[in-house]
Amino acid sequence: MARRDIDSILMQALADGKFHSGQALGDKIGISRASVNKHVQKLGELGVDIFRVTGKGYRLAHPIQLLDLEEIRKHLPHSSKQLDIDVLHVTDSTNDVLKQKIVNDPEIKPGTAVLAEMQVKGRGRRGRPWFSPFGTNLYLSMYWPLTGGLNSATGMSVALGLALARELSQQGIADVSVKWPNDVYIGGKKAAGILVELEGQAEGEGFAVVGVGINLSMPDDLQSIDQPYTAVQLHHDETIDRNHWAALIVHRCAHALRGHDAEGLANVLATWRRFDYFYQKPVRVLLGQHEHVGIGHGIDEMGAFLVKQEDGLKRYFGGEISVRTPSA
Ligand code: BTN
Repeated sequence: MARRDIDSILMQALADGKFHSGQALGDKIGISRASVNKHVQKLGELGVDIFRVTGKGYRLAHPIQLLDLEEIRKHLPHSSKQLDIDVLHVTDSTNDVLKQKIVNDPEIKPGTAVLAEMQVKGRGRRGRPWFSPFGTNLYLSMYWPLTGGLNSATGMSVALGLALARELSQQGIADVSVKWPNDVYIGGKKAAGILVELEGQAEGEGFAVVGVGINLSMPDDLQSIDQPYTAVQLHHDETIDRNHWAALIVHRCAHALRGHDAEGLANVLATWRRFDYFYQKPVRVLLGQHEHVGIGHGIDEMGAFLVKQEDGLKRYFGGEISVRTPSA
């Protein structure tokens, strides 16, 4: 059996947060107690918190709710019931799994999604790693064809960020905002991010792999993350049902992508303003070595970031935006 399959069975057994003896775990998988121990150690190195107590066995630091495809399907609204969805346990990056699936399946349907419990090589924008611990958050990738070529992806990532922000807000989360182009914040801290990877030609056929990471219940003291972050559970009274949330997010993404195909950003500009973290704030746009300052003024139909500067309204398609503090 492959290592990842063994890890999956182990995690399923341990998900309840109770003690399980090495012998019982080994019997379940068909491996020795010593092998169980090795796998547990490996999982520990990947960031899964498993305790070992002599005479009792192994248990997780906290019980976790595993993703369950049937449960996810039950929660999907009618218009998304037909989507193809895969749920994986430990993988490198769901974006890469999906890209491989696209290569292997020429008939792949729009909206096909891959979710994982954990990513060992999860990646974010600008080559940053995306910390993806087991069984806590959502890591999802969705396939979307670009029949009009890569140009038809203009504004897509903005539409997706806004869609996530709307879903969070609809679920009763307060103080949700979007930081251009597509970071989703709660209470000024990052809660979700989107990585859209495109393949194809400017005007020929192409496709997008839309990667979405949402912190549902991340530990809040991780030194390895280099920016203020938060998790949905910290802002939500009810216990998060991961399968329900997975369904909500899969549906929202597919819905946003359909909407973007049909109408672009024209109908969402006003909603963007409602969530725009930078609107009417003094901002700094960093473009390579150059810095541009002004006042945030929303986005246009192309998804460009607008900044009021002394010499007029400027549009930016790239760069890092930050709020200028008075002393900066
Ligand atoms: C960012 O804010 O930098 C984007 C983060 C995107 C993370 C998601 S998790 C699912 C998918 N697989 C990846 O490796 N990355 C994206």
